[in-house]
Amino acid sequence: MRLVMVGFGVVGRSFVRLLIKRREELLGLYGLKPRLVAVVDRRGAALCEKGLDLESVLKCKEERGSVCESENGREGMDALEAMELVDADVLIDVTPTNLRDAEPSLTYIRRAIRLGMNVITTNKGPLALFMPTLLDLARLNGVVLKFSGTVGGGTPILNFAKKCLCGDRITGIRGILNGTTNYILSRMEEGMEFGEALREAQELGYAEADPSMDVDGLDSAAKLVILANWILGKRATLEDVEVKGIRGIGLEDFEEARRDGSTIKLLCTADKGLRVMPEYVKRGSVLDVKGSLNAVTFISETAGEETVVGKGAGGMETATAILRDLVDIRMGILGDRE
Ligand code: HSE
Repeated sequence: MRLVMVGFGVVGRSFVRLLIKRREELLGLYGLKPRLVAVVDRRGAALCEKGLDLESVLKCKEERGSVCESENGREGMDALEAMELVDADVLIDVTPTNLRDAEPSLTYIRRAIRLGMNVITTNKGPLALFMPTLLDLARLNGVVLKFSGTVGGGTPILNFAKKCLCGDRITGIRGILNGTTNYILSRMEEGMEFGEALREAQELGYAEADPSMDVDGLDSAAKLVILANWILGKRATLEDVEVKGIRGIGLEDFEEARRDGSTIKLLCTADKGLRVMPEYVKRGSVLDVKGSLNAVTFISETAGEETVVGKGAGGMETATAILRDLVDIRMGILGDRE
């Protein structure tokens, strides 16, 4: 399968490392032989019709700062040009999230779909703002749009609800969808000040490039929109979510919560409406997870309540979600042929 990757930050590089590590397994188990025919970063692109040498492309990025410095490099080439030049099956979009207008990711995704490419994205912007229309566009063009890595990092939250609970009717969702704020709140519960806890979360690589997206609840809201569309069948966008972040919470609020036998979590809820806000959670209950963990409870008509807990952020974790999507696309193609 021929891949174009746009963005070559922590997640993109982790994905390439994973492709190297799993090469034989992917071929043996799924007959999948991914060929990275183009990688695009901020300064340019590297292109090779036969497939780039993965080790050299990683080395070039790490030592020289951009893939355009490699022997297959094209300085100044952007993703749109690269997609036109190579004949690829899948666009892998690992550009940073922009929740204002979703660009440039939105344009890349739309173009790829119109070129007949399947798309895997870890970027929450296009989905939070335009998910219903993007899914329609993919359907009309006979391609798939996959986005496992947008919710839960490597934890298969979307797949669990969509695949494992199929046949039941999910009526509500409640959970923690942001690793950074959960890390901050867990540290504050131990007595650390907000600012110091945020610095730690940034150092550990959990936070977005602009951490206000985490702290003010927008990252959580974007993920809630994705869940609401994909799992509950709503046609929602970011505007439909009532959002309150964790900035106003102080150590004294944790004292008060403790007296109630509770702690404070930034909870995302989808029932009749969609909201993100700090709420009390009973200590020791299923949603009282610590550190950067995510935890989501699906409330379904027949099976009752099921909770998925796992690492919600991190380069390698998110890279596994991309690989999962790629295997799904491969299995879909095989299924169509049979
Ligand atoms: N900043 C996000 C988080 C990264 O902390 O959950 C994963 O989406």
